[in-house]
Amino acid sequence: MTLIQELESRLAAAFESVLGERVAAPVVAAADLRFGDYQSNAAMALAKQRKTNPRALAEQVIAALDLAGIGSADIAGPGFINFKIAPETYAARAKAQHADPRLGVPVTGAGRTVVVDFSAPNVAKPMHVGHIRSTILGDSLARIARCLGYTVITDNHIGDWGTQFGMITWAWKNGLNEQALLENPLQELLRLYRHASESAKADEAVREACRMELVKLQQGDAENFEIWQRCIELSRTGLDRIYDRLDVSFDHWLGESAYNDSLAPLVDRLVAEGLARESEGAICIFSNGVPEDPAKDPFLIKKDGEWTDFPMMIRKSDGAFNYATTDIATLEFRRREWKVDAAWYVVDHRQSLHFQQLFAVAERIGLGDMDLRHIAFGTILGTDGKPLKTRSGDLPQLADVLDEAVAAAATAVAERSRVDTEEERAALAELIGISAVKFTELAHHRLSDYVFDLDKMLALQGDTAPYLQYSVVRCRSIFRKLEEAVDLSAVTPVLSEDAEIHLARFLARYGEVVPTILDDHRPNLLANYLLELARANHSFNEACPVLKAEVAVRDSRLLLCDLTSRVLTHGLALLGIGCPEKM
Ligand code: ARG
Repeated sequence: MTLIQELESRLAAAFESVLGERVAAPVVAAADLRFGDYQSNAAMALAKQRKTNPRALAEQVIAALDLAGIGSADIAGPGFINFKIAPETYAARAKAQHADPRLGVPVTGAGRTVVVDFSAPNVAKPMHVGHIRSTILGDSLARIARCLGYTVITDNHIGDWGTQFGMITWAWKNGLNEQALLENPLQELLRLYRHASESAKADEAVREACRMELVKLQQGDAENFEIWQRCIELSRTGLDRIYDRLDVSFDHWLGESAYNDSLAPLVDRLVAEGLARESEGAICIFSNGVPEDPAKDPFLIKKDGEWTDFPMMIRKSDGAFNYATTDIATLEFRRREWKVDAAWYVVDHRQSLHFQQLFAVAERIGLGDMDLRHIAFGTILGTDGKPLKTRSGDLPQLADVLDEAVAAAATAVAERSRVDTEEERAALAELIGISAVKFTELAHHRLSDYVFDLDKMLALQGDTAPYLQYSVVRCRSIFRKLEEAVDLSAVTPVLSEDAEIHLARFLARYGEVVPTILDDHRPNLLANYLLELARANHSFNEACPVLKAEVAVRDSRLLLCDLTSRVLTHGLALLGIGCPEKM
């Protein structure tokens, strides 16, 4: 049990003895440590319901409260109950956490299967920084869910079937550079795409030729199909290179094209069931009047002060199927084949209407019991506060962004690091550069925009990955200086200094923080926790000598150091970030 759970159960028992009935009494970590470690406003909420005096109720509850073996409680203001945890409690918690391979993280997802749909770049257009947010967030959420005991399936639903292939095929036939394709497939495919799209803009005949290539592909033309297949394979190679660098992997790569054959029968079925109908030659899904409030109905939109239809199109008038059609087929497949209870879509906030419609359709086709989430995110900004762009005004390529971060990390490593060989320095720069990009992403609220500022991301003193990694390296270095082996499993810590108690307090919170991340899919809660833990560790290092202390104190502190480095390492791993041996 976490401390919060323990306090909640004791508090609920006290309320029950006062009120004569079982009530929920939520406890939260105190925001301001001057008032205590944890607090509850349950007395205020319950007194309000019962129209009694909150402070009087809180007093009765405290009198009935049994906190033996935990700490003490008092009342503040109109009826807040503040809890102070005894140092011995923290010491016992630290010992138990040290012995626990899960470091106190409870299992909350057992028996549940979730598919995490993330990254999903569009093939033959390279991944740009917009995809970086999805990739990093999605990977971290998958790791966290797995750690909490969910069965997690990761699926890279790449955009591998669409109008871009008409253009690529045309350009492929009119000037492919085979050598470039082998060396840097994503780059060459991008060049082809740009060449076609510029030519098509300038020349009606090219536009028509591109369209014809697409029609041929969709009708199963052998040559075009082969070109398409090579594009997919080569993109896959290029993408794998990036995912390797990011240490991201997928259980499946079922892109849009995987569902081609299910689209026509799906549309026919939806029409036959009366869920979709023809409109101006296209097939669409319309509002069914549920929900009653038009503002909450994703199939309605306000135009000139009037609510008008905003249908979801599932077949265009020329017979082609849409992104939406594929997403319905994909969801049905995931449910049928993988038996998932939940699907999390980590996709740009600009697609929010699409997902609202998709989820409403899910209700109508009998998938209403699924936990469907659009995990949206904002934009990455340049230092000028505008969406990040290259000097030529294009969206920057993900690979270039990573290279830039690694180059900046290499400069920092050359200036400050203690590693010896050139090879080690290069590996360290790669690790630090990528970690810095990941941590910046994960430390922000996913819905807010953030500025891509390499100096800030790499600062050893800031709220950064290198700061956390350095904290781990420092914890570990104490053990290298230790002259004898110490069996930490035999140590019961004794906490007397404030800095020790403060560190133990944050260590105990780890198991409370991790499950809350999935309440609203916000890894920034973990990132911020790790920063707080590292700061507590920093103060501990300043105030409490370890190796020079007498043996009992030394061993107690060694246990805190070891536990801190394990929690930091574990937490960083949940963010997809590794730690170096030396820095
Ligand atoms: N390929 C899409 C894009 O880049 C994202 C796909 C997200 N997943 C999904 N099931 N719709 O915008």
